[in-house]
Amino acid sequence: MGPRAAPHVVRHPLPRAHGAGRAPGRGVQPQRPRARRRRARGVPAPGGGGSLGPVLRHPRGPAGRRTPGGDAARRGAAGRAAGRGPGRGYPGAPGPGGADGLAPRGPLRGGSRAGLPGPGLHDAPGSPEQAAPPPAEGPGAVEGGLPQGGAHAPPARELTVGRIRVLESWLADRIAAGEVVERPASVVKELVENALDAGARRVTVEFAGGGFELVRVADDGEGMDPEDARLCLRRFATSKIASPDDLRRVTTLGFRGEALPSIAAVSHVEVLTSDGRQATRVRAEGGSEPVAEPAAAPRGTVVTVRHLFYNTPARRRFLRSLAREAALCLDAVERHALARPDVAFRVVRDGREVLVLPAEGARERTARVLGVDPDALLPVDVTAQRFRVWGFVGTPELARRSRSGQYVFANRRPVASALVSRAVDQGARTLVFTGHHPVCALFLELPPDALDPNVHPRKLEVRFADESRVFSLVERAVREAYRSRPLVRAVPVGPTASAGAPLRLEVRETAPAGLTEPRLRAPLPPLRLLGQLLRTYVLADSPEGLVVVDQHAAHERVLYERLVRDRTRGQAAQLLAVPASVELSAAEAAVLPELVAVLRQVGLDVEPFGGNTALVRSVPSAAGRASPEALLRACLQEGIWDGVSTAGREALERAASVVACHSAIRSGDPLSVEEMRALLEALEASEDPYTCFHGRPTLVVVPAERLEAWFLRR
Ligand SMILES: Nc1ncnc2c1ncn2[C@@H]1O[C@H](COP(=O)(O)OP(=O)(O)OP(=O)(O)O)[C@@H](O)[C@H]1O
Ligand SMILES: [Mg+2]
Repeated sequence: MGPRAAPHVVRHPLPRAHGAGRAPGRGVQPQRPRARRRRARGVPAPGGGGSLGPVLRHPRGPAGRRTPGGDAARRGAAGRAAGRGPGRGYPGAPGPGGADGLAPRGPLRGGSRAGLPGPGLHDAPGSPEQAAPPPAEGPGAVEGGLPQGGAHAPPARELTVGRIRVLESWLADRIAAGEVVERPASVVKELVENALDAGARRVTVEFAGGGFELVRVADDGEGMDPEDARLCLRRFATSKIASPDDLRRVTTLGFRGEALPSIAAVSHVEVLTSDGRQATRVRAEGGSEPVAEPAAAPRGTVVTVRHLFYNTPARRRFLRSLAREAALCLDAVERHALARPDVAFRVVRDGREVLVLPAEGARERTARVLGVDPDALLPVDVTAQRFRVWGFVGTPELARRSRSGQYVFANRRPVASALVSRAVDQGARTLVFTGHHPVCALFLELPPDALDPNVHPRKLEVRFADESRVFSLVERAVREAYRSRPLVRAVPVGPTASAGAPLRLEVRETAPAGLTEPRLRAPLPPLRLLGQLLRTYVLADSPEGLVVVDQHAAHERVLYERLVRDRTRGQAAQLLAVPASVELSAAEAAVLPELVAVLRQVGLDVEPFGGNTALVRSVPSAAGRASPEALLRACLQEGIWDGVSTAGREALERAASVVACHSAIRSGDPLSVEEMRALLEALEASEDPYTCFHGRPTLVVVPAERLEAWFLRR
C-alpha cells in the first residue's frame, strides 16, 4: 500500500445546509484505502498528508489529539480492517467481513449513521455496544476506522438516551436514501453524472417500467479498479473531494459519495466495472453488504438498478404514472446531454431506442434536444469580469406558456434557479408574447467559489454568491441575443406553404453572419409606404419584399418606448384645462396613493381627492384620444402591480404598457397618409421594432420569392 497512501477519497467534509444533522463528520467515515488522484479532475490534491489528522481521532483519545500514523491511519480504514477480523476496534461491528474481503460496516451500521445517533451513543448506558470489548489501543485501532468521537463529541457517558431511540441502521439508510433518490429519474441523473465524472465519451441509458423495473447506465469512462469497486456502494465514499476546501471549488458533478449507496439502499444494484486491466462485479440488495467478484468487461462501468423502492413501497405509491416517470427519466438524460454535447448519448426505453445523440456542437445538440430548427436559436454570450453567460434562446415564436423549455446550467451542472428564470423573462420582456417564456439553454460559467452546489439533497438548487450580478448578466445576455438580429417574421418560401395551408411564420436572418459583437439594435429595412389594407394593416415596399405592418401593434410599440424613454427627459404631458374627476371603487382608491408617483412618470398626474374620488390633472401627450378616466381605470385595474414593487423600472414599464395599449390606434381606424408615414418612421426609429410589448409581431414580410412563387414566376 505504501506509495498509494494519501487518501484522496475520503469523506463528505461539510454538511449540506439542510442535512446538517447527518453530517458525516459526526459519524464514522468509511475510509477509502488509497488515492484515486486520476479521478479528481480539477480538484486540487488535498493539502499535506496530515491534513485530515484532526478529523481522525482515537475513539477514546482526548479530543484534539492528532491521529497517530497520519496517512497510514486513513489508508487502512476499510480495506485492512477486514483483514484484522471483526470485533477488534469495531465495537459495533455486526459480524465478520464479507467473504469478498470487504470491511465490516460496523461503525456505520452500528448506529452512528445518518447523523441521528450522535457519536458515542454506542457507549450510552444500556446500549448493546456497551458490552463490546474496548477497541485495541494504538494506531491499529484508529486504522480500524473508529473515529466515533468527532472533534466536538461530548464524552460518551454524559449522553442519556431517554425516549430517543437510535434508528436501526437499515432504517436510517432508507430515510437518508429518500433524500437523494426521490424517483427513478433521480437514479438516472446520479448514474449519468457518475459516468460523466468518469470521463465517458459515450453513455447509454436504458430504463424499463417507468424506471422502477430497471435503470441501467453504461459508460466507457475510466472505470474502477477492484478496490474502488468494492467501496463505491459505501456511504461517503467518493473519489471526488477530500477536504472542506475541495468542496468550495468542486468541479465534478458528484462530491458526496452518497448516490450509489442511497440507490443501493432501496433497490437491487449491480456494478460491473473495469479500469481496462481488471474487471469487478459488485452486487448489493436493499443496502446489504456488497458482494464483489472478479469479472470480465471492457474499460468502463455498467450500473444496473432493478426493483427500485421494492423495500419502501410507500414512496412508490406517491409517484406518478409509469409514463410520467419514464418522461422524467428521459428529461434527466436530456439535461445532461445539453450540458455535454461532446458526449454521445443513447436512450433505450422499454427495449425501444428513443433518443440517439452523436457527439456534436452545442447549437446542434440544443436544437436536437429542444426539438427546434438550429436556425431558430439565437446565440447568447456575455462576459463580465469572471462571469460568463452563454448558450441559446429560441426566437420569440418558440416561447411557451410554461417554463418547460428552459434549461439552465451552472458550471455545466443542471440547476433549477428561480432567479435565472426571472432574469430570462425580464430580458425577454416586450419581445416575447405576454405570459410566455423563451425556450433556452443557458450556461453560466462562474468561479467555483461563487457557487454553492451543496444546498439541496439532489443538488438541483444552487446558491449564487452574488445573486444580483447573476440576475443582471442573464437579463442582459438574453436581451442582447434578441437584439442581435432582426427578427423579421416572413411568410415561408417554397412548396410547403401551398395555397390553403396554414401560414407558418418563421424567422429570416438578415444580419451578417459571424458578428463578433452583438449589435444592440437590429434596424428595420427601409420602408416605402404603399397604403392601408382592411383598415388594420399598413403596407410598405422594402428590399426584403412586401411588409405588412399591424397598425395597432406597431403604434403600441412606438408609444410604449416613447413613454419609457421620456420619463427621464421629463414626460410630455397634456395639462387638462379642467381636471377630470374620477369616481373609483374602494379597492382602486385604496391602491391609488401608492401609484401616484409611477403614474406621474408616464405623464398621468393624479391625486386623491377625498373619499373614493381622484382628480386627473394631466395625461401623457401620447395618450391621444384616450379619456383620462379610461386611462386611470386601466392602470388601476389591469393588475399591473401584482408582485411588482410600485417604485422600480418594472412598475414604470407596466404603467407605460397600459397607457400605450389604451392610447394606440386600433384596427378599424382609418389612417391618413401622413399618419401612416409617421407610424412607419417612428417604428423604424424604435429600439425593438419587431414586437409590441405583449410580444406580438408588429410586422410580417412576404418575401419577393414568395410573390414570385404565387405568380408561378419560379
Ligand atoms: N460510472 C463510474 N465510473 C467510474 N467510477 C465511478 C462510477 N460511478 C461511481 N464511481 C465511483 O464511485 C464513487 C461513489 O459514487 P457516488 O455517486 O456514490 O458518489 P460521488 O459521485 O462521489 O458523489 P455524489 O453522491 O455527490 O454523487 C465515485 O466517487 C467514483 O469514484
Ligand atoms: Mg455520483
